[in-house]
Amino acid sequence: MPDHLTIVDHPLVQHKLTVMREVATPTATFRQLLREISQLLAFEVTRDLDLTTRQIETPLCEMQAPTLAGRDPALISILRAGNGFLDGMLDLIPFARVGFVGLQRDEETLEPMQYYFKVPDRLDERAVIVVDPMLATGHSSAAAIDLLKQNGAKNIRLMCLVAAPEGVAHMHEKHPDVPLVIAALDDHLNEKGYIVPGLGDAGDRMFGTK
Ligand code: URA
Repeated sequence: MPDHLTIVDHPLVQHKLTVMREVATPTATFRQLLREISQLLAFEVTRDLDLTTRQIETPLCEMQAPTLAGRDPALISILRAGNGFLDGMLDLIPFARVGFVGLQRDEETLEPMQYYFKVPDRLDERAVIVVDPMLATGHSSAAAIDLLKQNGAKNIRLMCLVAAPEGVAHMHEKHPDVPLVIAALDDHLNEKGYIVPGLGDAGDRMFGTK
């Protein structure tokens, strides 16, 4: 396993993911589980955020207490499925700034092209957490991270629910500096670009579209 890859094998994550994979799981349950799982993955993806200390007063005495250092982190959602991770992450990191990257495939070049890009300022001074539940080919995540780097981001990590080996390899090739936190590494991509066994189209399953 590449050392930039963390698979969160916590029993609660694995249990919730199994329910999400099931075809019979209704939209509302899927969305709720995605919210819950995002918090468990967020615990791992934020593990190495820098701490400093500040002087506080408890009811008993003064102390130097740990607190997050630097500017507030930035959460970047890759549209549209990334939005499924946002609510849970914001419950946990309510002071985070939020950005959105929308990409669609150019039908001639087949490359991901940006149609929407709105991100917090001073990305170079923030921990940047990119969220994209399904890492399939990895092309859109890698392209989104290219755009974030062009906008100054340096300290970037990517959080996904399910990844295909092809996506992990592509991310490692294009962005070896970006740690990847996932809940499961699945078997392969099928000819339509779906992760197998996967859970289907994450956007459709969370928003009830088809
Ligand atoms: N995107 C999804 O939502 N599901 C897949 O299986 C692959 C890409």
